[in-house]
Amino acid sequence: MEEIDSVLEHSRTQVETNWGYRRHPDSSSDPDGDVATPLATVTADFVVVANRLPVQQSSSSDSDEWRPSPGGLASALTSVLQSRNGLWIGWLGGTAPADAPTQYEGIRMKAVSISSEEYADFYLGFSNATLWPLYHDAIRAPTFHRTWWRTYQEINRRYAAAAAESVAPGGTVWIHDYQLQLVPDMLRRLRPDVRIGFFLHIPFPPSELFMQLPWRRAIITGLLGADLIGFQVPHAASNFSRTARRLVGATGTDSIIQFEGRIIRVGAFPITVDNAQIIAKARESAIRERAREIRRDLGNPEVVLLGVDRLDYTKGIQQRLTAISEMYADGQLSGDTHVIVQVAVPSRESDAHYDQERHNLEQVVSAMNGDYGLVGSPVIHYLHQNLPFDELMALYLAADIMLVTPFRDGMNLVAKEYVVCRTDSTGRLVLSEFAGAAAELRGAFMVNPHDLDGIKEAIGLALKAGPKEAKARMQRMRRKVLRHDVSDWAQSFLAALQQGTSAIGDASGPPIADER
Ligand code: G6P
Repeated sequence: MEEIDSVLEHSRTQVETNWGYRRHPDSSSDPDGDVATPLATVTADFVVVANRLPVQQSSSSDSDEWRPSPGGLASALTSVLQSRNGLWIGWLGGTAPADAPTQYEGIRMKAVSISSEEYADFYLGFSNATLWPLYHDAIRAPTFHRTWWRTYQEINRRYAAAAAESVAPGGTVWIHDYQLQLVPDMLRRLRPDVRIGFFLHIPFPPSELFMQLPWRRAIITGLLGADLIGFQVPHAASNFSRTARRLVGATGTDSIIQFEGRIIRVGAFPITVDNAQIIAKARESAIRERAREIRRDLGNPEVVLLGVDRLDYTKGIQQRLTAISEMYADGQLSGDTHVIVQVAVPSRESDAHYDQERHNLEQVVSAMNGDYGLVGSPVIHYLHQNLPFDELMALYLAADIMLVTPFRDGMNLVAKEYVVCRTDSTGRLVLSEFAGAAAELRGAFMVNPHDLDGIKEAIGLALKAGPKEAKARMQRMRRKVLRHDVSDWAQSFLAALQQGTSAIGDASGPPIADER
């Protein structure tokens, strides 16, 4: 804690020096006269802080080429930022100095720079080799290094300082995801006048796992700096609240926590997709024609099975393909009639676990084609590529069965995208019960992704289901998903954040997912 305090004091001084803030001796909202008042800087009333900006440097060149960042955050937040004239603070995805664009689709942006050493310790290290596996059921053993932790603090301080410099007095700051869990408390100390929301896009683990983390108290108190902490599903929210009570002496319920004289609200705000955009795409004749072309290129099989995942060990891709291989071996699938397309989007490629995952996956793919393919007709088409959105839509439209089988996933927007784009209610979804989306998509063929026989059985059921049953299932899922758009997700979180403590008793606004 002392370390964090000294880092913050340094940062507070910098905020004051760089931007002409001064302590306001007469501030009524702060009895210690410790409120920073902006003197000179241009600020925004609404600031989003996320590890990545919505655009990133093109990896192929050091030119001024920009492409959309991975993940669904940009589309989720673009319209809310546009409507509020907001500012987005984040990283450009590279370590080389670059002339960052200051605007993206009408959104103002401010880049936080990260050096190559910091990239190794903060991004690859603490974020993706400590927190990522720990928060995903420790599917890979998390690694704990004090140097990584120090860099995580340092980078979180940098984001907090950037937010403190940029937010207008009394403004709102919305912080996102596991890379920035210390920012809420750091920012509160720098700017006690602002309203702070935090949303975790990935699961929050049960206390039994979280307790492994050597810096567990600092993470919990970091998050408790927010006024509202949002999770994807109610289970994650209660994991957090229970851990806060156990570890740092917070009191209260799973949804309202008291800590150090403040009230913090906790809730589930299941993220979703841009329904209108997806439906419009699904109706475009060029995309529908492309879907037909894809089926022709695949040899007009009876059944196209599709997987679309970031190439990540949490996604269960290998197990899924192993189960499918066994179905070819058992004769439940045949090379003449059943074809698989697996898109594996490159991700975190400098991490050895991800490299290993790719290696293993490619072995399974080549064994499948070696064992069951014919000349000119492979059974699996594997694309290790970041496909354009239109091509993804065409693939969703071409697929009879969509396979989404992560071992653990905060939400999984691919499952929702597939359901939304099937405007004629055809198509079947095989879905892991450990994806956050399973709470809403009850019409899916559910699987335990660790259970190879269970995966085979669920795919078998999806293949066998008659058109009437399949349609009823898809309609049920579509009714559920179409009820809320991604802008409702953002609005419901922000509306809950704006509610003062007086409204705490009836915090019923956000669309809470069904309990399983
Ligand atoms: C997940 C995380 C995001 C992250 C995305 C892509 O969806 O919740 O925070 O941005 O994966 O991962 P990357 O490491 O490339 O940012």
